[in-house]
Amino acid sequence: MTHEKGCCDSICQCFFEYFTPKVLVIRSKKVGTINRLTQALVIAYVIGYVCVLKKGYQDTDTVLSSVTAKVKGIALTNTSDLGLRIWDAADYVIPPQGENSFFVLTNLIVTLNQTQTTCAEKPSQASICSSDKDCKKGFRYTQGNGVQTGRCVNFSESVKTCEVLAWCPLENATEPPNPPMLADAENFTVLIKNSVRYPKFNFNKRNILPHINSSYLSQCVFNRKTDPDCPIFRLKDIVEEAQEDFQTMAVHGGVMGVHIRWDCDLDMPKSWCVPKYAFRRLDNKDPDHNVAPGYNFRFAKYYKNGDGEETRTLIKGYGIRFDVMVFGQAGKFNIVPTLLNVGAGLALLGLVSVVCDWIVLTCMTKRNLYKEQKYSYVDDFGLLSDDGIP
Ligand SMILES: *[C@@H]1O[C@H](CO)[C@@H](O)[C@H](O)[C@H]1NC(C)=O
Repeated sequence: MTHEKGCCDSICQCFFEYFTPKVLVIRSKKVGTINRLTQALVIAYVIGYVCVLKKGYQDTDTVLSSVTAKVKGIALTNTSDLGLRIWDAADYVIPPQGENSFFVLTNLIVTLNQTQTTCAEKPSQASICSSDKDCKKGFRYTQGNGVQTGRCVNFSESVKTCEVLAWCPLENATEPPNPPMLADAENFTVLIKNSVRYPKFNFNKRNILPHINSSYLSQCVFNRKTDPDCPIFRLKDIVEEAQEDFQTMAVHGGVMGVHIRWDCDLDMPKSWCVPKYAFRRLDNKDPDHNVAPGYNFRFAKYYKNGDGEETRTLIKGYGIRFDVMVFGQAGKFNIVPTLLNVGAGLALLGLVSVVCDWIVLTCMTKRNLYKEQKYSYVDDFGLLSDDGIP
């Protein structure tokens, strides 16, 4: 009975109470300096880093973009099997158009007049033979060029290999020509057209900037110092900006990255939002482990010869693929991120007193004095005896 009454009493007491924190003012140059210094640090962080550097008052959006590219240039080759030959964009850009990327042929191994007939397989462990017994009719393997006919024939004067049914004559070169066939490709130019959009801010722009007129566009070439806005790039410049040598890269081919960065502050005038170009080699060129370097693929052109027999020209093409990548982030003032960052800044200011308290109570020489003042202790032995418990 008495116990319940006591409980009710304390609840009533609790209800009719008002709590207010007691403020301890420490008049000390040292503590004051520490306090102001940490406050200054937090304010500097909020204003300098969050507001100015990271633009915490802005809402952001990432870029949407489309890219088209057009390569121009003429190359001339003069080889024994092809004769004098002109190469234009329709010959060396494969495929004629692509998505965010284009490929330029720089080197090739051509095998002319292949037809489906029989010839000696290239020498390898699986194809070298001394008599017909070593060859099995119908045998084929992944690395081979055709299906064996079961006969052993002369590959050269000293080497005999199994005969195969294949596109003959077989391609015989293994290493691409050096210097590259289309060495002239270094002077080809490419017009990269890029439109970007920031949907959140309904902002559109393209990399042919408003001040570029068609007469300038017809003759300009991108140069970081003199023509940084020109969207026409010389292939050699692209490769050299990535610290690579064009003629070396052209022999085995490779992959280049064209990075277009659109970082825009939309609180500023629209004309300040311009693309920045950077170039990088993307396929790994490891000089210590140069196995299977570069980029190549085979394709063929088919036609019928005079006898109506299907014939093809096989081309093993080496070249440089240019991948255009567009990055970007735009920011514009918005009240929501502003309030969020102001709130976070105020919360950080609250943290200052915690830090100062800790320093004052643990590191200062007069910490015991401060402790005495900060904490008031109330002994409850007297209260206990009032309740009648010993
Ligand atoms: C590319 O053009 C430059 C200057 O017009 C010229 O000196 C150079 O020989 C050309 N390169 C090739 C491979 O033709």
